[in-house]
Amino acid sequence: MTELRSLQMLPKAHLHAHLEGSMRPSTLTELAEHYEMIVPETSGYGDFPAFSAMYKTAATVIKTADDLSRVVSEVVEDAALDGAVWIEPSFQPRMHTATFGSVEAVVEIVVDAAAAASNAFGIGVGLMIAGDRTEPPANATENARLAVKFKDQNVVSFGLASDEAVGPAEWFKESFDVAREGGLLSAPHAGELAGPGSVVAALDVLGADRLQHGVRAIEDPELVKRLADSTVCLDVCPTSNIMLRVADSFAEHPLRELLDAGVFCSVNADDSLLFGPGLLDEYELCRSEFGFNDELLARIARSSIEGSGAPSDKVLAWSASVDEWLASALV
Ligand code: ADE
Ligand code: ZN
Repeated sequence: MTELRSLQMLPKAHLHAHLEGSMRPSTLTELAEHYEMIVPETSGYGDFPAFSAMYKTAATVIKTADDLSRVVSEVVEDAALDGAVWIEPSFQPRMHTATFGSVEAVVEIVVDAAAAASNAFGIGVGLMIAGDRTEPPANATENARLAVKFKDQNVVSFGLASDEAVGPAEWFKESFDVAREGGLLSAPHAGELAGPGSVVAALDVLGADRLQHGVRAIEDPELVKRLADSTVCLDVCPTSNIMLRVADSFAEHPLRELLDAGVFCSVNADDSLLFGPGLLDEYELCRSEFGFNDELLARIARSSIEGSGAPSDKVLAWSASVDEWLASALV
């Protein structure tokens, strides 16, 4: 009989989870039915633009502060159930301004709900506010100012989502300057829908501390070496990459190669509503599909904690608890 440590018990941070895209499927259905809407589709997208349109439609089931707070709360609860000690959901406040009137109003609701959920479920919650590569850069800069304004209410990082092939990093330099000068981590999407050049730009122009995805760095060995020599963490989402055809299969996915090269990588779900697996499922897939052993899984979990925006005393304590997990007897 093969004995395995429980991956639920492995302390870990969820660093790449879009808020609306992490909504429970049952909540999507319930809210849509409550508002007598057609339940938004969550499968059958082919390319990224179709996926993105589906994402935005799914987000329209959120119509009140209670709905938004409920989604935040359930996303945090699901992370806690999966054994996360920290979650850093990202959101784009502008997605909800038509509903709530202003970007400030949206952020107020999310930060309050996140603080309540952190207390209720006993895990740390930091928030990532993100810009959108397909919108004017001025919008992202406004988001960055907003993110800095809410820094003392647990906004810890600034991101950049949506179609990387549309908006190059150079357009968003000012936004990231504002965020980094305001003390936030820089965590743009890059190396997902565009290749190594986009990763280099995220590092050089946006000062990335973490890269959401980053996996296409594998196409440039020099870049892989640069990443391995740095503390930058790649927030990798294996199932998302397969579903959006960034990688053909688990067998073709570069995660093992990146880890073998010494790159810090975390493992994440991205959008469980549209891709299926949650955080714990992704760790289980790392074991079953990539064949990672517990040392490697612990390394991934440690990287997720060390790459997070959590306070440094928590990072130290949680990293030590990863070592304890690894030292624990097999069950
Ligand atoms: N928004 C939600 N999911 C995303 C992804 N995988 N890439 C870019 N933007 C996103
Ligand atoms: Zn993402």
